[in-house]
Amino acid sequence: MNNKHLLSSVLAVVSVVFIMSCKNSDYVPNDNASDLILKSYSPRDFTSEPILAGDIETILKCGIKAPSARNMQPWKFIVVKETSVMQQIITNVTEGNVLIVVCRPEANSTADFDCGLATENMVISAQSLGLGARIYTNPVANINSTMKQTLQISEEYRAVAVLRVGNIEKNIDIESTASPRNNYEETVTFL
Ligand SMILES: Cc1cc2nc3c(=O)[nH]c(=O)nc-3n(C[C@H](O)[C@H](O)[C@H](O)COP(=O)(O)O)c2cc1C
Repeated sequence: MNNKHLLSSVLAVVSVVFIMSCKNSDYVPNDNASDLILKSYSPRDFTSEPILAGDIETILKCGIKAPSARNMQPWKFIVVKETSVMQQIITNVTEGNVLIVVCRPEANSTADFDCGLATENMVISAQSLGLGARIYTNPVANINSTMKQTLQISEEYRAVAVLRVGNIEKNIDIESTASPRNNYEETVTFL
């Protein structure tokens, strides 16, 4: 075996070992979730470009992956794509948006917290796919009083939040669009 072949073989073995080691350690520091969160904002303006079905599925799977107390996974997600139904929930909704109505069972003391985590998981997932996402709780009272049948929310469940997902204009100035946050020093206490 000449030097060139020896080098190729060594590189091949090193590559295989690297790929195998990655399989068990997909959690790498470059995943960049922190950067994504620090750049996130809740858009109000969406385009009518439809969302890919695969992206909706990924977002919902990220919701399902959320942690929950005693792993009860109390959430149910109702996905609304029909514009006329979406408009009964959020009046200025844009065609191409998708609304995910997050529902919880009545009988579960930690369900609100768990559903909040699932909702935020879906927000981050949508943003990682280049989409915009905004959480709404305003429409919840109307959903629970008049739309449970339309949305096929069963008797023992109620809506707790609506997540609006859609395509957004690129090149948004995030600095000026995101709402300001309280100061780090005032918010955090180190002991
Ligand atoms: C629990 C919850 C409920 C919210 N409800 C509404 C709502 O009903 N209507 C609305 O326009 N925005 C709603 N928002 C969006 C917030 O106003 C927004 O996340 C916040 O102002 C921060 O904005 P930013 O993400 O753009 O920085 C809600 C957010 C959360 C977390």
